[in-house]
Amino acid sequence: MSILYDEKRRIFKLDTPKSSYIIGIVDEENFIGHVYYGERLNATDVGYLMRLEEPPFVPSRNNRDRVTFLDSFPMEYPAAGLGDFREACIEVRTESGNAGLQLNYVNHKIYPGKPKLEKLPVTFGDEQDCTTLEILCEDEHLHLQAVLMYTVFEELDVITRSVRVMNQGDTPIYLTKVLSACVDMDNKDFEMISLHGSWARERRIQRRKIGYGKQSVSSMRGESGHQDHPFMALATEHATEDRGEVYGFHFVYSGNFIAQAELNQFDMVRAVMGIHPHHFAWKLENGAEFTTPEVVMVYSAEGIGKMSRTLHDLYRKHLIRGAFKDRKRPILINNWEATYFDFDTDKLLAIAREAAKNGIEMLVMDDGWFGNRSSDNMALGDWFVNEDKLKGGLKYLVDEVNKIKVSGGEADDMQFGIWMEPEMVSPDSDLYRAHPDWAIQIPGRTPSLCRNQYVLDLSRPEVVDYVYKMIYDILSSANIAYVKWDMNRQLTDLGSAALPADRQGELYHRYVLGVYELQGRMMRDFPELLLENCSSGGARFDPGMLYFSPQIWSSDDTDAIERLMIQEGTAMLYPLSAMGAHVSDCPNHAVGRTTPFTTRGYVALAGTFGYELDITKISEADRSLILPQTQMYHRYNDLVRTGDYYRIASYAENHYYDCWQVTSKDKKESLVTFIQVLSRPNVHSRRVYLKGLDADATYCVTQDKIGEDFVKGAQMVTAEVLSATQTYTGDVLMKAGMNISMQGDFTGVLISVRQME
Ligand code: GLA
Repeated sequence: MSILYDEKRRIFKLDTPKSSYIIGIVDEENFIGHVYYGERLNATDVGYLMRLEEPPFVPSRNNRDRVTFLDSFPMEYPAAGLGDFREACIEVRTESGNAGLQLNYVNHKIYPGKPKLEKLPVTFGDEQDCTTLEILCEDEHLHLQAVLMYTVFEELDVITRSVRVMNQGDTPIYLTKVLSACVDMDNKDFEMISLHGSWARERRIQRRKIGYGKQSVSSMRGESGHQDHPFMALATEHATEDRGEVYGFHFVYSGNFIAQAELNQFDMVRAVMGIHPHHFAWKLENGAEFTTPEVVMVYSAEGIGKMSRTLHDLYRKHLIRGAFKDRKRPILINNWEATYFDFDTDKLLAIAREAAKNGIEMLVMDDGWFGNRSSDNMALGDWFVNEDKLKGGLKYLVDEVNKIKVSGGEADDMQFGIWMEPEMVSPDSDLYRAHPDWAIQIPGRTPSLCRNQYVLDLSRPEVVDYVYKMIYDILSSANIAYVKWDMNRQLTDLGSAALPADRQGELYHRYVLGVYELQGRMMRDFPELLLENCSSGGARFDPGMLYFSPQIWSSDDTDAIERLMIQEGTAMLYPLSAMGAHVSDCPNHAVGRTTPFTTRGYVALAGTFGYELDITKISEADRSLILPQTQMYHRYNDLVRTGDYYRIASYAENHYYDCWQVTSKDKKESLVTFIQVLSRPNVHSRRVYLKGLDADATYCVTQDKIGEDFVKGAQMVTAEVLSATQTYTGDVLMKAGMNISMQGDFTGVLISVRQME
């Protein structure tokens, strides 16, 4: 059993392969204290870590100085209003307008397996994979109970947390804040790692030293957002990819969030994560419950890279679901950057036919096929096929696409995918004209537009049902294999025409539950469908959405060089199999840069791989590279999708080159991608140290290349290695490294490393 309760000491010990998490129950009042989180311990006699006998910690028994105690005790799930002045996890308002509560231990249970969380995305595992601890605690005064849920994964250094709050009193209680996790630790000169960004610049890695007071990342946009990511890691000073302690916290949720580290007067850090309390007030009637979304906690004593690989394994095995969980994804071509709104059946079929000749397996029709949508000014909500554009209708187009044979790929017939943005409504739409009150808005106030659209009030079951029927009708009208589900604005003007005044504070969360309900129904009714979530590029790339779609569009910025940073930040948390990445045309539509077609391919190979260009219009030279590129995808995708990812060099840090590696779990095969962003005169070759190989095994190293023109300047290692007559041990490749020297800006090489039999 990986969770044990030491009854004598009143200590819970939760063990993963390499970490321990320890909770203590103290005093007659049964405070629940946090004792330890870190490298695995073999004993439970560590209650002294709570410093109960030390000043200024005054035992609370006689209530002589309760405030001093509450304000410094390492609390497992801190509540507000009675003396703990650090960030609280839970706050309430009673009918009489009072706040203040304290949740103390009542009893617990430990059992194999992992509970589902009602209506919420959640990591899963069976009785062999997981053990769960539930601690019931209560505020005796309010009769408010909470169950603190902890699940330990047997094979991964992961502990998940969630909280279920129940009102057992006679009068309603308003939860005005209810976070999912808290960890109080001594500061180890922690630095906070987070991801920040903007549209087209998503998920850049940021690192800062923790100072006294509070530092947080958060979203109040109604979605996780481009700007901040629902993630935070606390890393010991100087922690690198391979060394140092890292505590990662990732939120399995797609709405408002807060992730915060607070350094207090006693040099303790309180890390908290949960739904942002902004405009949150959940009314709990007598007997009602509220369950918080899940926080995933990862501990690594082997640097940031180990945290990444743990999360990748967790998400691949225990979060992503559906038919494509472990399956290779079809290589698609999307018409957005090819045509924008200006397309018809003939144009799409011309793209599909040319694509199929070059090994592309699916055509995705993006925005503009429905209602009178000729620009982003109108028609969201009118999910009826525009037959002026699509002559013969949707089924005709899909059937024609399905008749096209694919050359060189693994699929025989071309498949069809479609874009939708079901959460939205344009003011200029039949749907809005019929149901203006279905848009989220404050009565009497003109709602703010964003991309000319409003957000539908998905807290209303009738709106969810109506939207779902439209989706269902479209998806059952033709052989649609893929949906790109978009979401192109943030939530503002929070108001629901259906919620009573004292439940308006539930709207943000109810909206997110509505989105989950829609995508859950879709998965149930169309189990073979491949869903790709998207939000103006990568604004809702979060573990919550990953539960519904095995891949998410990373960014509207498809420039190979910008993508190095976007994908590096994304891959810090997500498996490469989840990262939507395409080769697009140049000059790039977001930055105007021109990069070699081969380099664009190498970068996109690190994700789901596809194309975003008008294949009928690009140069013959570029087009001739597509078939070999798709073959490269087939050569490496099993490895890329399932292997261990290592970050070798970061362009964001060194400004000249980027390098990453994926190694198979059995260490027999590895792929190194090296991109030279800027060339420099008179420098030595770059030395890169490979990772994750078997030190004793012998490997053959070869450059895999297509498009001679662009890689001519790349002299990888030595001529002997290129001719594959020279082999190296894993030990040499990891400790002594290999040299790569190239000329030219924006160039790249793929290096295949294979174990000799
Ligand atoms: C968003 C997406 C794009 C594209 C457009 C269509 O911006 O991120 O990929 O689908 O919407 O309007």
